[in-house]
Amino acid sequence: MKTQLAVLGSGPGGYTAAFRAADLGMDVTLVERYPALGGVCLNVGCIPSKALLHIARVMEEAEQLAEAGIEYAPPKVDSAASRAWVESVVGRLTGGLSGMAAKRKVRVLEGTGRFSGGNALAVETGEGAEALEFEQCIIAAGSQSRALPGLPDDPRIMDSTGALKLDPIPKRLLVIGGGIIGLEMATVYAALGSEITVVEALDRLMPGPDADLLKPLERRIRRQYAAIHTGVMVASAKASAKGIAVEFEGAAPSFPARKVPQPDTFDAVLVAVGRVPNGDRIDAGKAGVDVDERGFIAADKQLRTSQPHIFAIGDIIGHPMLAHKAAHEGKVAAEAAAGMKVAFDARVVPSVAYTDPEVAWAGLTEAEAKAQGVDYGKGVFPWAASGRAISMQRSEGITKLLFDAEGGRVIGGGIVGVNAGDLISEVAHAIEMGAEAEDLALTIHPHPTLSESVGLAAEAYLGTITDLYLPRRSRK
Ligand code: FAD
Ligand code: NAI
Repeated sequence: MKTQLAVLGSGPGGYTAAFRAADLGMDVTLVERYPALGGVCLNVGCIPSKALLHIARVMEEAEQLAEAGIEYAPPKVDSAASRAWVESVVGRLTGGLSGMAAKRKVRVLEGTGRFSGGNALAVETGEGAEALEFEQCIIAAGSQSRALPGLPDDPRIMDSTGALKLDPIPKRLLVIGGGIIGLEMATVYAALGSEITVVEALDRLMPGPDADLLKPLERRIRRQYAAIHTGVMVASAKASAKGIAVEFEGAAPSFPARKVPQPDTFDAVLVAVGRVPNGDRIDAGKAGVDVDERGFIAADKQLRTSQPHIFAIGDIIGHPMLAHKAAHEGKVAAEAAAGMKVAFDARVVPSVAYTDPEVAWAGLTEAEAKAQGVDYGKGVFPWAASGRAISMQRSEGITKLLFDAEGGRVIGGGIVGVNAGDLISEVAHAIEMGAEAEDLALTIHPHPTLSESVGLAAEAYLGTITDLYLPRRSRK
């Protein structure tokens, strides 16, 4: 088979690249080892986890209504039915992708592809090997869960893909890794009735956002979960009929454990300690493409690898490993392959943890601004003063914006609270547009909304806010 452009992998990076290239008139072949398109994100990542988090959120909200005089009977959980519903959500989206691939005349080749030369892939399909010759190629082969060595091989020890199955819902769940996956899945299992223990090697949960933005989340989950241990790792784990017996140890002198927990036994364990790229599984060397010792493939601003006719995008080229970054890179790579003068020059890639409350951030964090010696000012709006947040029974949120002290340009922002993931887009947009504090403060935000908190944080920075009482010296 011959093709102008081969795309290896059909996740958010790969399918976006394939569709954009086809729309630009290229002859495209999309190689995917699984029958369903969509990669990790649609099949075992973003979408099924968010569907489960939707269930968790509605359950939590229903329970919280007791405060407002509405009480429901305790929920009955039918995990098989929940699983079927999540599968239907995923199926609707992946089916949509197959339909769009067909409409665009993107050839989909189901099989595992590996490079066999500078312009060829050998694809292992169900019906034998297929040689695919290409003029250009986009590598979008993604990443997989990082395994933790030394754990027994036992079905009760799961990675994120196993955890999405809700099979079973354990009475006591140990989550190893207090990062985004660990905390999102803990949110789901806690709502469904599991007793959660989290162990995180670092001295804080979730590397990334500023510590002050993490506090409202931490306060809530410390109340809900059985235990959260930072500075702690699993020293040993043994499987028996009773469960998984785990011993703990302090992680490192630089991240002192508050207290090393006593050995304990759990009904299930979720390992969520990061993801590793698939760069060393595609014989990239046969095409002369450089892969580093961790499996990442380096790509330039046009997403070209060490071989200029071969591009790489998404998780396989590095952090942040996020679907929207992969998709954006997919468009740039496709356009570059089609001969357009383009480059990846987004100023920010926003991050969101869809925990309860959500935590979202974009651009510089305050910790980064301090470390880089940036002269910045900040505006903070606590949601305790937001009519909408209070009427939603969720006033623990915070919106924080950072501004360049000299010109007042927005350089970063973080939000914690319900729907923070939706609200952060305004901050990302402001940064991309080079907006200043006045641009946000003088944009009339609809009332009462959570989005007002962005304008109000800018007003707090400018000293013009009336929804908070500012000391005289801070008023302008
Ligand atoms: P992938 O989605 O990993 O796709 C790679 C594709 O390549 C796969 O389909 C794979 O089968 C295929 N492939 C690999 N090797 C070969 C080969 N040799 N031959 C043929 N096919 C091959 N990100 C977000 O932005 N938001 C979220 O809410 C979010 N939630 C997540 C939740 C979970 C539980 C997980 C695990 C991840 C989540 N992510 C989220 C991360 C997101 O899924 C990834 O960043 C994104 O999928 C990366 O896209 P990609 O195109 O680079 O690769
Ligand atoms: P992560 O890197 O976010 O978090 C892993 C955590 O595990 C870290 O805090 C790390 O310090 C800790 N850790 C590592 N080894 C450990 C050990 N031995 N014992 C205890 N703790 C240990 O990785 P995670 O959560 O697995 O997610 C992987 C990636 O997937 C994320 O970085 C993100 O790119 C993507 N993702 C994005 C989501 C989103 O955008 N909402 C949701 C889920 C995943």
